[in-house]
Amino acid sequence: PAAVPFHGARQSGVLHRQLPATRLLALDLPADTDRAALRTLLAAASDVLARAAAGRLADQRLTGAPPTTSLAAIGPALATRLRLPAPETLAELPALPGDRLDPARGDGDLLLQVSTEQPWTTGILTEHLLTATTAAGATLRWQQTGFLPPTPDGQTPRNLFGFKDGTANPDPADPDLWHQDGTVLVYRRIRMDTAAFAALPTDSRELAMGRRHDTGAPLTGTAEHDDPDIYAKHPDGSYVIPATSHVRLSSPRLDGGTRMLRRGWSYDDTPTDRGLLFLAFLRDPALFTRVQTRLAERDALTPFLAHTASAVAWVLPGAREGGVLGEGL
Ligand code: HEM
Repeated sequence: PAAVPFHGARQSGVLHRQLPATRLLALDLPADTDRAALRTLLAAASDVLARAAAGRLADQRLTGAPPTTSLAAIGPALATRLRLPAPETLAELPALPGDRLDPARGDGDLLLQVSTEQPWTTGILTEHLLTATTAAGATLRWQQTGFLPPTPDGQTPRNLFGFKDGTANPDPADPDLWHQDGTVLVYRRIRMDTAAFAALPTDSRELAMGRRHDTGAPLTGTAEHDDPDIYAKHPDGSYVIPATSHVRLSSPRLDGGTRMLRRGWSYDDTPTDRGLLFLAFLRDPALFTRVQTRLAERDALTPFLAHTASAVAWVLPGAREGGVLGEGL
């Protein structure tokens, strides 16, 4: 498989297709960290990521240049403390209905994500990233492993409810997602009661989602990429894509067309703690808040879900050729 370049105007973790084995790391920095110390830390992380992407990481356990995507993002508290030139939209999320957040699994000064084709490779890169960043003064706040099922090229991976997830995404290059070459990440760790959902009859699951289980097509269409028509009605006046379905309540049409780029991975930490690592890239986390408020109140999926951790962060512009992340800070 082809290597993914580390350098570029925008970070590969947003631009490139999702690789199946991912790791999220949240680091905290000492209270006296200044901009220079942050730049040193980001340079250390960049060095590992650039070498990994080019197959030049000195590690006997790795061969070749395994495809690697990554991103580095800065939490709102650190951005404020250091008066960094973050987008003005960068802010913590308000408390949302139904939240059951564990602070030990969320937030953080610096969020790193590294994804490869194999848990083995992702684990080794994680070791190197942690060694380099803790040597530069950071401490690990939390980490989270995620995965995707084996998915043929060009097809949409399924989540633990068994539905295709990521169909209606915008093009990652869509200018509406970006602040110059940076963007904002919203992360939510969402526990899913997969057994209870699987016990529903297929048609109930499809009505809850607003899409077909097998093809991923919207209930108003026949093919996966048909546009969901949230206004189509049955002769009795009810909506074909039901009023409480996930696809209706998350539809960009209810937000004046504003969109987010979703990048979900599944996680499986214990038999009773499995679900979705929901990552969304967007210009303004207020969009997430509006959508999630509707979902928490009315979505037919909500009884099967619990949001257990949360983070927001400024995804830095990419590293220019020969340069490192965070150079302009
Ligand atoms: C669409 C699953 C949580 C926002 C979808 C689709 C599935 C899905 C299967 C349809 C296929 C697709 O277009 O990707 C889930 C599951 C969740 C979850 C299982 C929880 C475990 C969320 C959350 C948000 C969200 C928390 C945002 C607050 C969206 C959006 C769409 C979508 C914006 C696309 C709507 C459209 O343009 O038609 N989700 N989702 N989802 N979801 Fe979720």
